[in-house]
Amino acid sequence: MGTVKIAPSLLAADFGNLQRDVEMVNQSTADWHHIDVMDGVFVPNISYGMPVVKAISEHATKPLDVHLMIVDPDRYIKTFADLGAKVLTVHYEACTHLHRTLQAIRNEGMLTGVALNPHTSVQLLEDCIQDIDVVCLMSVNPGFGGQSFIENTYNKVRDLKAIITKKEATTLIEIDGGVSSKNAKRLVEAGADVLVAGSFVFKSDNPTQTIKELKAITA
Ligand code: DX5
Ligand code: ZN
Repeated sequence: MGTVKIAPSLLAADFGNLQRDVEMVNQSTADWHHIDVMDGVFVPNISYGMPVVKAISEHATKPLDVHLMIVDPDRYIKTFADLGAKVLTVHYEACTHLHRTLQAIRNEGMLTGVALNPHTSVQLLEDCIQDIDVVCLMSVNPGFGGQSFIENTYNKVRDLKAIITKKEATTLIEIDGGVSSKNAKRLVEAGADVLVAGSFVFKSDNPTQTIKELKAITA
C-alpha cells in the first residue's frame, strides 16, 4: 500500500489570491488539486465555473480532480477534458445512465469518478465498480465547505473496500467533507486512499505544514 493522497479543496482558498493558493498546493506535498463545481440546482450553492477552472488549470502543476455537483453532467464532459481535468467526478444521484456517463469520461481520456451523497449506499456501485477509478464518499452533504464530518463514513469506507476487493478492482476511495486530523487516521485505517481537505488546510496557520502532516498519515 502506498501513502495516502492529499487533495486540498480550492473551495476554501482565498479567491482574491487564487494563483498564490494554487502555487502553495503546487509546492506542497499534496497530490491533486480538488476543484468543486456547483450549479445551485443539484446543490443549494453556486461555487465557480469554467473560467475559474481555466485560470486554476493554467497555474496548477498537479492533476486536477474535478468534482461536479451539477445536474446533467454529461453536457460538460468534453468541456472539462479540454480544461485539463485528470479525474472527472460525477454524482451517482445526478446520473440516470451512470455506465454511459463513465464510458464518455473515459473516452475523453480522463479517469472516472463517482461521488455518493451520505444517504447513498455503496452497494449501488457493485455492478460498475470496474469502470470507476475513484469513488468519492461524501462525508458531509455536498454544497458547502466547513461542515462537520458524518461518522457513518467509516462504515461506508469498509463496505466499499470489501466490494472493491471482491471484484478485484483498482478503484481508489476518496473522502470529501469535514476531513481533519481528528478523523484522517481512522479513515486511512478503514481503507481511504485519497483525503480531500478544504477548511482544515486553508484555514490553518501553515497550510503547507498541514498538508505535510496529513500526507504523513499511515494505516
Ligand atoms: C463540499 C465539497 C468539498 C468541500 C470540502 O460539497 O465537495 O470538497 O470543499 O470542504 P471541507 O474540507 O471544509 O469540508
Ligand atoms: Zn468536493
